[in-house]
Amino acid sequence: MSEIDWANLSFGYMKTDYNVRCYYHNGKWGEIEVCSEETIPLHMAATSLHYGQEAFEGLKARHCPDGKTRIFRLEENAARLQSTCRGIMMPELPTELFREMTLRVVKLNERFIPPYESGASLYIRPLLIGTTAQVGVHPAEDYLFLIFVTPVGPYFKGGFACNNYVITRAYDRSAPLGTGIYKVGGNYAASLRANHEAHEAGYACEFYLDAKEKKYIDECGAANFFGIKDNTYITPKSTSILPSITNKSLMQLAEDLGMKVERRPIPEEELGTFEEAGACGTAAVISPISEIDDPEAGKKYVFSHDGKPGPWSTKLYEKLVAIQYGLEPDVHGWNTILE
Ligand code: PLP
Ligand code: COI
Repeated sequence: MSEIDWANLSFGYMKTDYNVRCYYHNGKWGEIEVCSEETIPLHMAATSLHYGQEAFEGLKARHCPDGKTRIFRLEENAARLQSTCRGIMMPELPTELFREMTLRVVKLNERFIPPYESGASLYIRPLLIGTTAQVGVHPAEDYLFLIFVTPVGPYFKGGFACNNYVITRAYDRSAPLGTGIYKVGGNYAASLRANHEAHEAGYACEFYLDAKEKKYIDECGAANFFGIKDNTYITPKSTSILPSITNKSLMQLAEDLGMKVERRPIPEEELGTFEEAGACGTAAVISPISEIDDPEAGKKYVFSHDGKPGPWSTKLYEKLVAIQYGLEPDVHGWNTILE
Protein backbone atom coordinates (compact mmCIF):
# COMPACT_ATOMS: atom_id res chain seq x y z
CA MET A 1 0.00 0.00 0.00
CA SER A 2 2.81 2.40 0.78
CA GLU A 3 3.60 2.24 -2.93
CA ILE A 4 0.50 4.23 -3.98
CA ASP A 5 1.57 7.68 -5.08
CA TRP A 6 -1.57 9.43 -3.78
CA ALA A 7 -0.66 12.90 -4.98
CA ASN A 8 -0.16 11.78 -8.57
CA LEU A 9 -3.20 9.59 -9.10
CA SER A 10 -5.05 10.05 -12.35
CA PHE A 11 -8.80 9.56 -12.83
CA GLY A 12 -8.57 5.84 -13.51
CA TYR A 13 -9.35 2.37 -12.20
CA MET A 14 -7.24 0.71 -9.54
CA LYS A 15 -8.04 -2.61 -7.93
CA THR A 16 -9.23 -2.34 -4.35
CA ASP A 17 -10.02 -5.09 -1.83
CA TYR A 18 -13.79 -5.53 -2.06
CA ASN A 19 -16.95 -4.70 -3.96
CA VAL A 20 -20.51 -5.22 -2.78
CA ARG A 21 -23.32 -6.81 -4.77
CA CYS A 22 -27.04 -7.35 -4.54
CA TYR A 23 -29.24 -9.35 -6.91
CA TYR A 24 -32.84 -8.64 -7.87
CA HIS A 25 -34.78 -11.84 -8.48
CA ASN A 26 -38.48 -12.81 -8.41
CA GLY A 27 -39.46 -9.21 -7.88
CA LYS A 28 -37.26 -8.47 -4.86
CA TRP A 29 -33.79 -7.44 -3.80
CA GLY A 30 -31.70 -10.09 -2.04
CA GLU A 31 -29.01 -9.90 0.64
CA ILE A 32 -25.89 -7.75 0.31
CA GLU A 33 -22.88 -9.82 -0.72
CA VAL A 34 -19.27 -8.81 -0.16
CA CYS A 35 -16.98 -9.88 -2.95
CA SER A 36 -13.28 -9.65 -3.76
CA GLU A 37 -13.68 -10.82 -7.37
CA GLU A 38 -13.40 -8.04 -9.96
CA THR A 39 -15.30 -9.83 -12.72
CA ILE A 40 -19.00 -10.71 -12.96
CA PRO A 41 -20.60 -13.83 -14.39
CA LEU A 42 -23.02 -12.66 -17.07
CA HIS A 43 -25.20 -14.42 -19.60
CA MET A 44 -24.18 -13.59 -23.17
CA ALA A 45 -27.78 -12.63 -23.98
CA ALA A 46 -28.19 -10.29 -20.97
CA THR A 47 -30.27 -7.16 -21.70
CA SER A 48 -27.48 -4.92 -20.40
CA LEU A 49 -25.16 -6.16 -23.14
CA HIS A 50 -27.60 -5.97 -26.04
CA TYR A 51 -30.14 -3.31 -25.25
CA GLY A 52 -28.17 -1.04 -22.96
CA GLN A 53 -30.19 -1.77 -19.85
CA GLU A 54 -27.45 -0.35 -17.70
CA ALA A 55 -27.15 2.55 -15.30
CA PHE A 56 -24.37 3.90 -13.15
CA GLU A 57 -23.68 6.58 -10.60
CA GLY A 58 -20.62 8.43 -9.35
CA LEU A 59 -19.93 9.91 -5.93
CA LYS A 60 -16.92 10.48 -3.73
CA ALA A 61 -15.67 9.75 -0.22
CA ARG A 62 -12.99 12.01 1.24
CA HIS A 63 -10.58 11.79 4.14
CA CYS A 64 -10.97 15.06 6.01
CA PRO A 65 -8.57 17.06 8.19
CA ASP A 66 -10.62 16.17 11.31
CA GLY A 67 -9.87 12.50 10.69
CA LYS A 68 -13.40 11.67 9.53
CA THR A 69 -14.50 10.30 6.16
CA ARG A 70 -17.30 12.19 4.43
CA ILE A 71 -19.44 11.05 1.51
CA PHE A 72 -21.10 13.85 -0.46
CA ARG A 73 -24.87 13.83 -1.16
CA LEU A 74 -25.39 10.10 -1.14
CA GLU A 75 -29.20 10.38 -1.05
CA GLU A 76 -29.18 12.56 -4.18
CA ASN A 77 -27.25 9.90 -6.06
CA ALA A 78 -29.70 7.25 -4.85
CA ALA A 79 -32.61 9.42 -6.04
CA ARG A 80 -31.02 9.99 -9.45
CA LEU A 81 -30.42 6.27 -9.85
CA GLN A 82 -34.11 5.70 -9.08
CA SER A 83 -35.05 8.23 -11.75
CA THR A 84 -32.77 6.42 -14.22
CA CYS A 85 -34.42 3.12 -13.25
CA ARG A 86 -37.84 4.52 -14.08
CA GLY A 87 -36.43 5.88 -17.34
CA ILE A 88 -35.15 2.57 -18.67
CA MET A 89 -37.56 0.16 -16.99
CA MET A 90 -35.38 -1.24 -14.22
CA PRO A 91 -36.57 -1.90 -10.66
CA GLU A 92 -35.81 1.04 -8.36
CA LEU A 93 -33.11 0.44 -5.80
CA PRO A 94 -34.31 1.62 -2.37
CA THR A 95 -32.34 4.54 -0.91
CA GLU A 96 -31.67 2.61 2.28
CA LEU A 97 -30.06 -0.25 0.34
CA PHE A 98 -28.00 2.24 -1.68
CA ARG A 99 -26.84 3.86 1.56
CA GLU A 100 -26.02 0.61 3.33
CA MET A 101 -24.03 -0.74 0.38
CA THR A 102 -22.17 2.54 -0.13
CA LEU A 103 -21.12 2.79 3.52
CA ARG A 104 -20.18 -0.87 3.57
CA VAL A 105 -17.97 -0.75 0.48
CA VAL A 106 -16.20 2.43 1.60
CA LYS A 107 -15.58 0.98 5.06
CA LEU A 108 -14.27 -2.28 3.60
CA ASN A 109 -11.82 -0.35 1.41
CA GLU A 110 -10.89 2.30 3.96
CA ARG A 111 -7.19 1.82 3.32
CA PHE A 112 -7.70 3.07 -0.24
CA ILE A 113 -9.14 6.45 0.75
CA PRO A 114 -6.40 8.91 -0.20
CA PRO A 115 -5.00 11.15 2.55
CA TYR A 116 -6.40 14.70 2.71
CA GLU A 117 -3.14 16.37 1.73
CA SER A 118 -2.96 14.49 -1.58
CA GLY A 119 -6.07 16.20 -2.97
CA ALA A 120 -7.22 12.78 -4.25
CA SER A 121 -10.44 11.03 -3.21
CA LEU A 122 -12.18 7.69 -3.29
CA TYR A 123 -14.51 7.47 -6.29
CA ILE A 124 -17.57 5.32 -5.66
CA ARG A 125 -19.10 3.72 -8.73
CA PRO A 126 -22.52 2.06 -8.34
CA LEU A 127 -23.64 -0.01 -11.34
CA LEU A 128 -27.00 -1.59 -12.12
CA ILE A 129 -27.43 -4.02 -15.02
CA GLY A 130 -30.15 -6.18 -16.49
CA THR A 131 -28.96 -9.79 -16.40
CA THR A 132 -31.85 -11.78 -17.88
CA ALA A 133 -31.15 -13.53 -21.19
CA GLN A 134 -33.46 -11.93 -23.72
CA VAL A 135 -33.45 -11.61 -27.48
CA GLY A 136 -36.65 -9.61 -27.85
CA VAL A 137 -36.37 -5.96 -26.87
CA HIS A 138 -37.87 -6.08 -23.38
CA PRO A 139 -36.72 -5.18 -19.89
CA ALA A 140 -34.96 -7.89 -17.90
CA GLU A 141 -36.56 -9.65 -14.96
CA ASP A 142 -33.28 -10.10 -13.09
CA TYR A 143 -30.74 -7.45 -12.16
CA LEU A 144 -27.36 -7.08 -10.52
CA PHE A 145 -26.53 -3.98 -8.54
CA LEU A 146 -22.93 -3.60 -7.46
CA ILE A 147 -20.66 -0.89 -6.11
CA PHE A 148 -16.91 -0.73 -6.50
CA VAL A 149 -14.55 2.00 -5.36
CA THR A 150 -11.24 3.25 -6.68
CA PRO A 151 -8.92 6.04 -5.55
CA VAL A 152 -8.80 8.88 -8.09
CA GLY A 153 -6.97 12.11 -8.74
CA PRO A 154 -8.33 15.05 -10.75
CA TYR A 155 -10.47 14.44 -13.86
CA PHE A 156 -8.51 17.05 -15.78
CA LYS A 157 -4.74 17.41 -15.41
CA GLY A 158 -3.91 20.20 -12.99
CA GLY A 159 -7.15 19.98 -10.95
CA PHE A 160 -8.59 23.47 -10.44
CA ALA A 161 -7.09 24.87 -13.63
CA CYS A 162 -8.60 26.24 -16.82
CA ASN A 163 -9.49 24.02 -19.80
CA ASN A 164 -10.41 24.72 -23.39
CA TYR A 165 -13.50 23.22 -25.02
CA VAL A 166 -14.74 22.80 -28.56
CA ILE A 167 -18.36 22.93 -29.66
CA THR A 168 -19.22 19.77 -31.53
CA ARG A 169 -21.86 20.16 -34.21
CA ALA A 170 -21.20 16.81 -35.87
CA TYR A 171 -22.41 14.68 -32.96
CA ASP A 172 -25.21 14.71 -30.41
CA ARG A 173 -24.83 13.05 -27.03
CA SER A 174 -28.56 12.75 -26.45
CA ALA A 175 -31.89 13.63 -28.02
CA PRO A 176 -34.32 16.22 -26.61
CA LEU A 177 -36.66 13.50 -25.32
CA GLY A 178 -34.00 10.80 -25.14
CA THR A 179 -31.96 9.41 -22.26
CA GLY A 180 -29.68 12.41 -21.61
CA ILE A 181 -31.35 13.07 -18.25
CA TYR A 182 -30.50 9.53 -17.11
CA LYS A 183 -27.08 8.18 -16.24
CA VAL A 184 -27.02 5.32 -18.74
CA GLY A 185 -24.02 3.98 -20.64
CA GLY A 186 -25.52 4.72 -24.07
CA ASN A 187 -25.09 8.47 -23.57
CA TYR A 188 -21.39 7.95 -22.97
CA ALA A 189 -21.03 5.66 -25.98
CA ALA A 190 -22.60 8.47 -28.02
CA SER A 191 -19.95 10.87 -26.71
CA LEU A 192 -16.83 8.79 -27.36
CA ARG A 193 -16.17 9.91 -30.94
CA ALA A 194 -16.80 13.59 -30.20
CA ASN A 195 -14.49 13.36 -27.19
CA HIS A 196 -11.78 11.61 -29.19
CA GLU A 197 -11.93 14.20 -31.96
CA ALA A 198 -11.82 17.06 -29.46
CA HIS A 199 -8.66 15.59 -27.91
CA GLU A 200 -7.10 15.05 -31.33
CA ALA A 201 -7.70 18.69 -32.12
CA GLY A 202 -5.95 19.77 -28.90
CA TYR A 203 -8.95 20.50 -26.68
CA ALA A 204 -9.54 19.20 -23.16
CA CYS A 205 -13.12 18.23 -23.96
CA GLU A 206 -16.10 18.49 -26.31
CA PHE A 207 -19.00 20.85 -25.70
CA TYR A 208 -22.60 20.08 -26.70
CA LEU A 209 -25.37 22.30 -28.02
CA ASP A 210 -28.97 21.14 -27.92
CA ALA A 211 -29.54 18.43 -30.51
CA LYS A 212 -32.69 19.86 -32.07
CA GLU A 213 -31.79 23.42 -32.96
CA LYS A 214 -28.05 23.60 -32.21
CA LYS A 215 -28.89 26.92 -30.64
CA TYR A 216 -28.69 26.42 -26.88
CA ILE A 217 -25.96 25.26 -24.51
CA ASP A 218 -26.34 21.69 -23.25
CA GLU A 219 -23.32 20.18 -21.47
CA CYS A 220 -19.53 20.06 -21.40
CA GLY A 221 -18.60 16.41 -21.94
CA ALA A 222 -19.42 14.57 -18.70
CA ALA A 223 -20.10 17.73 -16.71
CA ASN A 224 -22.72 20.49 -16.51
CA PHE A 225 -22.03 24.04 -17.64
CA PHE A 226 -22.34 27.30 -15.74
CA GLY A 227 -21.63 30.87 -16.76
CA ILE A 228 -21.27 33.91 -14.53
CA LYS A 229 -22.06 37.57 -15.22
CA ASP A 230 -23.40 40.50 -13.20
CA ASN A 231 -23.17 38.53 -9.94
CA THR A 232 -25.44 35.88 -11.45
CA TYR A 233 -24.85 32.13 -11.74
CA ILE A 234 -26.49 30.91 -14.94
CA THR A 235 -26.86 27.26 -15.91
CA PRO A 236 -28.79 25.53 -18.71
CA LYS A 237 -32.28 24.18 -18.38
CA SER A 238 -32.55 21.36 -20.89
CA THR A 239 -34.36 18.05 -21.26
CA SER A 240 -31.22 16.35 -22.56
CA ILE A 241 -28.62 16.98 -19.85
CA LEU A 242 -27.84 15.06 -16.69
CA PRO A 243 -29.19 16.75 -13.55
CA SER A 244 -25.81 17.26 -11.92
CA ILE A 245 -25.69 17.04 -8.13
CA THR A 246 -22.60 19.25 -8.07
CA ASN A 247 -24.47 21.88 -10.11
CA LYS A 248 -27.45 21.67 -7.79
CA SER A 249 -25.07 22.24 -4.86
CA LEU A 250 -23.35 25.15 -6.61
CA MET A 251 -26.71 26.82 -7.30
CA GLN A 252 -27.38 26.69 -3.56
CA LEU A 253 -23.89 27.94 -2.66
CA ALA A 254 -24.13 30.76 -5.22
CA GLU A 255 -27.33 31.84 -3.51
CA ASP A 256 -25.66 31.53 -0.10
CA LEU A 257 -22.87 33.79 -1.39
CA GLY A 258 -25.44 36.40 -2.38
CA MET A 259 -25.46 35.72 -6.11
CA LYS A 260 -28.56 35.49 -8.24
CA VAL A 261 -29.21 32.09 -9.78
CA GLU A 262 -30.82 31.46 -13.15
CA ARG A 263 -31.60 28.07 -14.65
CA ARG A 264 -32.87 28.62 -18.17
CA PRO A 265 -32.06 27.94 -21.82
CA ILE A 266 -28.79 29.69 -22.72
CA PRO A 267 -28.40 30.63 -26.40
CA GLU A 268 -24.88 30.09 -27.71
CA GLU A 269 -24.35 33.81 -28.42
CA GLU A 270 -24.79 34.53 -24.73
CA LEU A 271 -21.42 32.84 -24.14
CA GLY A 272 -19.89 36.06 -25.40
CA THR A 273 -21.36 37.95 -22.44
CA PHE A 274 -20.13 35.75 -19.58
CA GLU A 275 -17.33 36.98 -17.34
CA GLU A 276 -16.52 33.44 -16.18
CA ALA A 277 -17.51 29.93 -17.20
CA GLY A 278 -16.99 26.48 -15.77
CA ALA A 279 -17.76 22.78 -15.98
CA CYS A 280 -18.97 21.01 -12.85
CA GLY A 281 -19.46 17.43 -11.74
CA THR A 282 -18.36 14.83 -9.23
CA ALA A 283 -15.26 13.99 -11.25
CA ALA A 284 -14.60 17.52 -12.51
CA VAL A 285 -15.60 19.30 -9.23
CA ILE A 286 -15.32 22.77 -10.80
CA SER A 287 -13.15 22.89 -13.89
CA PRO A 288 -12.97 26.51 -15.00
CA ILE A 289 -13.19 27.09 -18.74
CA SER A 290 -10.57 29.26 -20.43
CA GLU A 291 -12.22 29.26 -23.84
CA ILE A 292 -14.89 27.61 -25.96
CA ASP A 293 -14.19 27.37 -29.68
CA ASP A 294 -16.88 27.00 -32.30
CA PRO A 295 -14.70 26.34 -35.37
CA GLU A 296 -17.59 25.56 -37.70
CA ALA A 297 -19.23 28.89 -36.94
CA GLY A 298 -15.85 30.68 -36.88
CA LYS A 299 -16.37 31.86 -33.29
CA LYS A 300 -14.34 31.74 -30.11
CA TYR A 301 -15.48 32.70 -26.61
CA VAL A 302 -12.71 33.55 -24.16
CA PHE A 303 -13.26 33.57 -20.39
CA SER A 304 -9.72 33.67 -19.08
CA HIS A 305 -6.86 35.51 -20.75
CA ASP A 306 -4.19 34.54 -18.21
CA GLY A 307 -5.20 30.89 -17.76
CA LYS A 308 -6.40 31.59 -14.21
CA PRO A 309 -9.87 30.84 -12.82
CA GLY A 310 -12.09 33.88 -12.20
CA PRO A 311 -13.02 35.21 -8.73
CA TRP A 312 -16.54 33.77 -8.50
CA SER A 313 -15.48 30.34 -9.75
CA THR A 314 -12.69 30.37 -7.18
CA LYS A 315 -15.07 31.37 -4.37
CA LEU A 316 -17.59 28.70 -5.34
CA TYR A 317 -14.88 26.07 -5.63
CA GLU A 318 -13.41 26.92 -2.24
CA LYS A 319 -16.82 26.92 -0.58
CA LEU A 320 -17.84 23.58 -2.10
CA VAL A 321 -14.57 21.88 -1.23
CA ALA A 322 -14.60 23.33 2.32
CA ILE A 323 -17.98 21.71 2.91
CA GLN A 324 -16.93 18.42 1.33
CA TYR A 325 -13.87 18.29 3.63
CA GLY A 326 -15.73 19.32 6.77
CA LEU A 327 -13.83 22.63 7.00
CA GLU A 328 -17.07 24.60 7.02
CA PRO A 329 -20.35 23.76 8.73
CA ASP A 330 -22.49 21.46 6.59
CA VAL A 331 -25.54 23.69 6.94
CA HIS A 332 -27.47 21.93 4.17
CA GLY A 333 -26.82 18.43 5.54
CA TRP A 334 -25.01 17.21 2.43
CA ASN A 335 -22.39 14.93 3.98
CA THR A 336 -22.72 11.44 5.36
CA ILE A 337 -19.99 10.72 7.90
CA LEU A 338 -18.61 7.20 7.88
CA GLU A 339 -18.72 5.73 11.37
N1 PLP B 1 -23.21 15.52 -16.87
C1 PLP B 1 -22.79 14.29 -17.21
C2 PLP B 1 -23.07 13.82 -18.60
C3 PLP B 1 -22.13 13.49 -16.28
O1 PLP B 1 -21.70 12.27 -16.61
C4 PLP B 1 -21.91 13.98 -14.99
C5 PLP B 1 -21.25 13.15 -13.99
O2 PLP B 1 -21.86 12.53 -13.17
C6 PLP B 1 -22.36 15.27 -14.66
C7 PLP B 1 -23.00 16.01 -15.64
C8 PLP B 1 -22.17 15.82 -13.31
O3 PLP B 1 -23.07 15.26 -12.39
P1 PLP B 1 -22.73 15.15 -10.86
O4 PLP B 1 -22.43 16.52 -10.39
O5 PLP B 1 -23.95 14.61 -10.24
O6 PLP B 1 -21.57 14.25 -10.75
C1 COI C 1 -18.78 11.93 -12.64
O1 COI C 1 -18.54 13.13 -12.61
O2 COI C 1 -18.96 11.26 -11.62
C2 COI C 1 -18.88 11.23 -13.89
O3 COI C 1 -19.64 10.34 -13.97
C3 COI C 1 -18.04 11.65 -15.00
C4 COI C 1 -17.50 10.50 -15.84
C5 COI C 1 -16.37 9.79 -15.20
C6 COI C 1 -18.53 9.62 -16.41
